[in-house]
Amino acid sequence: MSAFPLEGLPERVTIHEVGPRDGLQNEKAIVPVADKAEFIARLADAGLRTIEATSFVHPKWVPQLADAEELLATMTRAEGVRYPVLVPNERGLDRALASGITEIAVFASATESFARRNLNRTIDESLEMFAPVVGRARENGLWVRAYVSMAFGDPWEGEVPVEQVVSVAVRLMDLGCSQLSLGDTIGVGTPGHVTALIGALTEAGVGADRLAVHFHDTYGQALANTLAALRCGVTVVDSSAGGIGGCPYAESATGNLATEDLVWMLHGLGIETGVDLPKLAATSRWMAARLGRPSPSRVVQALSSKD
Ligand code: HMG
Ligand code: MG
Repeated sequence: MSAFPLEGLPERVTIHEVGPRDGLQNEKAIVPVADKAEFIARLADAGLRTIEATSFVHPKWVPQLADAEELLATMTRAEGVRYPVLVPNERGLDRALASGITEIAVFASATESFARRNLNRTIDESLEMFAPVVGRARENGLWVRAYVSMAFGDPWEGEVPVEQVVSVAVRLMDLGCSQLSLGDTIGVGTPGHVTALIGALTEAGVGADRLAVHFHDTYGQALANTLAALRCGVTVVDSSAGGIGGCPYAESATGNLATEDLVWMLHGLGIETGVDLPKLAATSRWMAARLGRPSPSRVVQALSSKD
């Protein structure tokens, strides 16, 4: 396929693959640890260089990822690939450190409703919980990402004001995080909203060079929103192989933007990703067979119909 570049877009985009974490955390089926390890190895083999592997959260809250230690002990860590994990508190950090992790992500909410449901805390309490996690992680030389969920809308509170997101985002970055991922947990954002939020964050001192975008595709806006973010200078995009996933604590959160759909658009624009699309789509078909349902990715479906 020829590339048709557009002006003002980056030459290269880093894909932050979240399938093994955000994808599998929301599947009814609990995938055996050997299949998770194979999934991660195949994603690395398809050229992904940042693969969010799992979460060190309470196993009762997310039983699908209760095998985090076992997974980290058995999976292959490929040269040059980063394997961040989600960590909500110091207990999670201790578990991650014991597993030899070098990158973590803390995850806050822009709304009180989701902070309560996802972390059993108010926003203030959750930031208090993260402060020692980020501090100790940095002392140990770890790279720390922060997520802010419900950055566009919230199923309980409706549209989330931009200032409210910026306020939580700045507090998270002030803790010492290196990157902030803007989570459209329920997929309601639209491109102008994305541009407005990134503009407000830039004005508040959190520029596009420290931002990533994390779109769920509930309303079919994820690719349009990604393009808007790229136009604002963002070069890190989260996506999930095959479009699997959601969030167990947010009703109406569907799968993330599918990595294959993202790669199709980026390669069409002449933007490098390092990803081998046929290999990736084959991996998603393989995982879909294990999950017992077809991949929701349009690109995976289109490529499959040609086989
Ligand atoms: P809590 O019940 O308030 O925990 O849960 P606690 O601090 O009161 O501790 C209670 C017990 O849990 C204690 O044990 C702790 O040791 C234990 P006890 O003394 O009673 O025997 N405990 C742990 N055990 C293992 N690992 C841990 C851990 N922490 C405490 N890390 C907590 C608070 C934060 C733990 C809980 O709410 C939790 O695990 N939440 C995670 C929810 C989650 O993973 N959600 C999905 C990820 S977020 C997402 O998907 C959004 C995102 O994709 C972006 C977007 O789309 O917007 C990132
Ligand atoms: Mg998510």
